[in-house]
Amino acid sequence: MKSVAIIGTGIMGSGMAVNFLKQGHRVFVWNRTKSKLKPLISLGASAVSSPKEAAVKAEIVFDVTANDRSSQSVWLGSRGILAGAGYKKYLIASGTFSANWIDKLAKICQQKKLTFFDMPMTGGRIGAETGAMILLVGGSQQKLKTIYKDLSSIAKKIAYFGKGGSGIRFKLVLNMIQSVHIVALGEALKLGKKSGLNLKTVGDYLSVQPGGVVTNLAWRDYQTEPKPINFSIKWITKDLNYAKQLAKNLPLPLLAQVYKKYLKALKKKHGQKDWTAINKI
Ligand SMILES: NC(=O)c1ccc[n+]([C@@H]2O[C@H](COP(=O)([O-])OP(=O)(O)OC[C@H]3O[C@@H](n4cnc5c(N)ncnc54)[C@H](OP(=O)(O)O)[C@@H]3O)[C@@H](O)[C@H]2O)c1
Repeated sequence: MKSVAIIGTGIMGSGMAVNFLKQGHRVFVWNRTKSKLKPLISLGASAVSSPKEAAVKAEIVFDVTANDRSSQSVWLGSRGILAGAGYKKYLIASGTFSANWIDKLAKICQQKKLTFFDMPMTGGRIGAETGAMILLVGGSQQKLKTIYKDLSSIAKKIAYFGKGGSGIRFKLVLNMIQSVHIVALGEALKLGKKSGLNLKTVGDYLSVQPGGVVTNLAWRDYQTEPKPINFSIKWITKDLNYAKQLAKNLPLPLLAQVYKKYLKALKKKHGQKDWTAINKI
């Protein structure tokens, strides 16, 4: 069982530290605001004075800070992770950072012959607190396998996406689609309310059938176009137009954009294709 260091003990980092402790790992912690370390120290974690010391002492080091700026401050410089890391260490960027920064960091690690993974997480606070996150990994798959068991202390699933930088790219894609879904739900609720429907009933039903399965359906039919089609572009364009009419002057920008996209496909004579084919036109 490998020792770990958590750099950045915010919502996600704290949850990770607690679960590593629960599973019996030796845990080192560092945080910019020292007071946040207290509960973890009381559970058995050891505080270190710098990210460099964390990289000297622990076998696996996680950066769970906020953004590119915080990440750069904990990796670089004389007190940074890179100053303390050796070739036997596993260095992991788990916050959600830009692909640009992750590519730079991966390159530095490669030049120094250090093992680096981009490993953003999904599962939120609950996932971190319950040790049930999904880790989205870029880096060497072979080396990843050697820490699978350790990672299982914080994750229910380890999803591998390819070479360094692939994990963060997927995370950004994931957050994009999730936020579009969130905004789309907001628009759907507004329309439901304006139509005089009970908002609770609309929300409850959308979250199970059929709204909750939209991503599944769109992905299945993206991979294999349904023949015969399930629902035509022609008719979904009609329905979106009806929804726009219903909305009148209520501003629903996502609806407007999606309608425009389908209308364009219709005008280009794709009306008989399945509505999920919109992502291939
Ligand atoms: N919460 C989620 O649902 C979730 C899910 C997946 C991924 N993420 C990602 O995980 C990362 C952490 O998120 P979180 O929700 O745990 O955030 P958080 O609770 O706000 O924690 C942020 C951490 O970053 C540190 N930090 C911020 N600015 C810093 C700086 N300039 N220098 C050094 N440390 C700095 C904070 O230290 P201080 O205590 O000193 O402020 C704290 O440890 C983010 O990249 C986030 O996008 C979050």
